[in-house]
Amino acid sequence: MELTVESHGPGGPESSGTPTLALSGVSKSFGSVVALRDGSLQMMPGSIHALVGENGAGKSTLVKIIAGLYQRDSGTFEMEGRPVHFRSTADSKAAGIAVIYQEPTLFPDLSVTENVFMGRQPVDRFRRIDKHAMRAEVVSLLQRLGVRIDPDRPAEGLSIADQQIIEIAKAISLDAKALIMDEPTAALSRRRGRPALRRRPESARRGPRPVVHQPPVRRGLRSLRHRHGDA
Ligand SMILES: Nc1ncnc2c1ncn2[C@@H]1O[C@H](COP(=O)(O)OP(=O)(O)OP(=O)(O)O)[C@@H](O)[C@H]1O
Ligand SMILES: [Mg+2]
Repeated sequence: MELTVESHGPGGPESSGTPTLALSGVSKSFGSVVALRDGSLQMMPGSIHALVGENGAGKSTLVKIIAGLYQRDSGTFEMEGRPVHFRSTADSKAAGIAVIYQEPTLFPDLSVTENVFMGRQPVDRFRRIDKHAMRAEVVSLLQRLGVRIDPDRPAEGLSIADQQIIEIAKAISLDAKALIMDEPTAALSRRRGRPALRRRPESARRGPRPVVHQPPVRRGLRSLRHRHGDA
């Protein structure tokens, strides 16, 4: 099964400089099942990539290796020119990688705002959690993503689409070096998915962070080309 990478922006194989992420010849098996064979990906700062392949091609496996959820059996993985060996998702997070999985991972009892800032709440000069700053940041993020979600409501009861929007807001606010999305739009309606996707290239251009977006296969390349106006 074929796994291809479609790149836009300064991330093509001909580009020079040190890639933010570079994986080469990466393979992963589970028992006798080869989940990923010889996967390669190079992400330059500011670039956008789409991983495209049939169901079972190994897209999620590659994403999980980058996220530190799985360890590769073979191949090389470098970040900014240095070899990395992530043992856990905490390792990849600490290295500046934000991942959005197919299934949302929000805490149902916490508010939308608390979920966006889970584990890294800003503090004021008295070292108290700065709720005003948190809320203002979330309001601004949701506005940029073009959605109306109450920042004070609990995550519980939100639709899957809205939960994914919160995940995207969280990833953007992390200001990570690389943002990886494993088909978060599969659960999004056209109304919700379109505006959220339109924001990706804009946010990638603002900072030096490359984006891997793993879109639903049929729509992926078309939507990337459409957004970049070179269809
Ligand atoms: N933890 C696991 N244990 C056993 N087999 C696995 C595991 N994870 C993935 N696989 C197998 O590896 C192959 C690749 O799976 P993967 O989820 O990476 O594909 P994918 O390209 O993301 O597919 P989809 O488009 O359906 O999301 C599949 O055949 C899958 O059944
Ligand atoms: Mg998958």
